Amino acid sequence: MINPSKVVKKLDPYVPGRSIEEIASNYGLDSKKIIKLGSNENPFGPSPSAVEALKKNLQQISQYPESNLNNLIKDVASYSGVSPSNVILGGDGADEILDVLGKTFIEPGDEFIVPIPGYMYYEYTLTIQGAVPVYANWDVPSNTLDVNSVIKAINPKTKLIFLCTPNNPTGGLISREDIINVLESTNAVVVVDEAYYEFSGVNNIDLLNEYKNLFILRTFSKVLGLAGMRIGYGLSNPEIIKYMYRVKPVFSLTKLSEVAATATLHDKDYIKKSTELIVESREFLFKSLSKFKNLKVYESKANYILVDVRETRFTAQELSERLIQKGIIVRDCTSFKGLDEYWIRVSVGTLDEDIEFIKILKEIIFMKIKKS
Ligand SMILES: Cc1ncc(COP(=O)(O)O)c(C=O)c1O
Repeated sequence: MINPSKVVKKLDPYVPGRSIEEIASNYGLDSKKIIKLGSNENPFGPSPSAVEALKKNLQQISQYPESNLNNLIKDVASYSGVSPSNVILGGDGADEILDVLGKTFIEPGDEFIVPIPGYMYYEYTLTIQGAVPVYANWDVPSNTLDVNSVIKAINPKTKLIFLCTPNNPTGGLISREDIINVLESTNAVVVVDEAYYEFSGVNNIDLLNEYKNLFILRTFSKVLGLAGMRIGYGLSNPEIIKYMYRVKPVFSLTKLSEVAATATLHDKDYIKKSTELIVESREFLFKSLSKFKNLKVYESKANYILVDVRETRFTAQELSERLIQKGIIVRDCTSFKGLDEYWIRVSVGTLDEDIEFIKILKEIIFMKIKKS
């Protein structure tokens, strides 16, 4: 008889955003016509220099990748304004860094604090390692962290505390003051998740000099346009970084991922333009969605917007299903703890994609109102 561990038996599987391939084959749609606004990727695609560099390096796939990634580490350090000894790279994106953080700091029975609604992967990956989630509160109406709920949850068993800024899925920022307040209230490692910081114009790098328990998590999957290459990184004090390297799978960052990451970081124009265009598109999408009388829209500093759809009389699942039938993928947030079944998250697309989405959404909501 197959007998997995108790934790695995009880584990709720992680619900990822839906892919273009899955939707095209399940709904008989042309994959080229599908608009994907579900996973917060860069809608303008990868840097052309990354694509060029990948083509040039294809022959290298018969060899193991570098285990020592000094050059990429130097580039990431210079992009982030830290020294190379502050950097760890992950080969399954920032998600791998989360797994390595757990393996480095968690003993079974230890606790981690996670404000909800928040990014669900923290809980998924750490409960597998025997850690216990303790929920704090993200105040959705004001789109801010309830910092007291975090501080109240701290106890001697707390090993990791997650502060996601901008927060996924709500898009709100955590103030510097609140981050400092948490850092000063604990010896646990405070993971400030800045996966979307480029869209917000703010970051918390300077706090690394002062707080040895700060860990900043980042990714190449968002504005850097490499979600499919699975590259993440963490920034912290050299002692934490050294312990984490003991645990990290040695060859998890593939040669091609390294090549694509290096080329992207050197393509400053691509990064600047992508950021500007996405921010412009986000403001357009926010304004357009705010005009719907039956939607409640939350201001965002990231590349997605959280929308409360209950007044349309659709659940999030029904509305996402209608959109999918028309070739548009959004994120149904029903699986996010701390939200009920009436929330969707819409990633910012190109302006043309936003316009098409708004047009189809209007038609779907109008038809529902007409029928009832
Ligand atoms: C807040 C947040 N952190 C981390 C990640 C993980 O990113 P990746 O594993 O693609 O690098 C994501 C991905 O969506 C995210 O939204």
